[in-house]
Amino acid sequence: MSIDTNGFSAAAVGDFQDTSAEKVMARMPNPGQVRIHQGMFPDSVHGVEDTFAFVSLDVDLYAPTLAGLEYFYPRLSPGGFIFIHDYNNKRYSGVRHAVDAFLAKHPVPAMPLPDFAGSLVVLK
Ligand SMILES: C[S@@+](CC[C@H](N)C(=O)[O-])C[C@H]1O[C@@H](n2cnc3c(N)ncnc32)[C@H](O)[C@@H]1O
Repeated sequence: MSIDTNGFSAAAVGDFQDTSAEKVMARMPNPGQVRIHQGMFPDSVHGVEDTFAFVSLDVDLYAPTLAGLEYFYPRLSPGGFIFIHDYNNKRYSGVRHAVDAFLAKHPVPAMPLPDFAGSLVVLK
């Protein structure tokens, strides 16, 4: 079943279900330095007031991409950057709509990457 309402995403309910916090932790080379905030973003980060040097957003959808940029950009360290997967991927065009909406409101430096997924980096 598609979760698409605006022609923004080819993602379907049930995609990427084969995972867990335990599986993710098992792949971490330094698990003692990792904190998982499990749940739906942005609710999953309420109360977190860290700053960030690097953020990777790969959520395939408009709303959490925009929420991620609105949440993380103000908390980004000077010189830090946000990597956004699928910015130039037509299967997930909501990602581009979200990034463009953010950049229209906050004209900050951004640089598309020539990678397979059409990623983009937002800089501080
Ligand atoms: C393309 S997958 C991420 C793949 C991952 N980066 C990897 O390389 O294995 C997109 C993920 O975003 C998650 N996602 C979408 N919206 C979300 C939200 N609001 N909060 C948390 N996760 C979300 C989906 O459940 C899905 O697991």
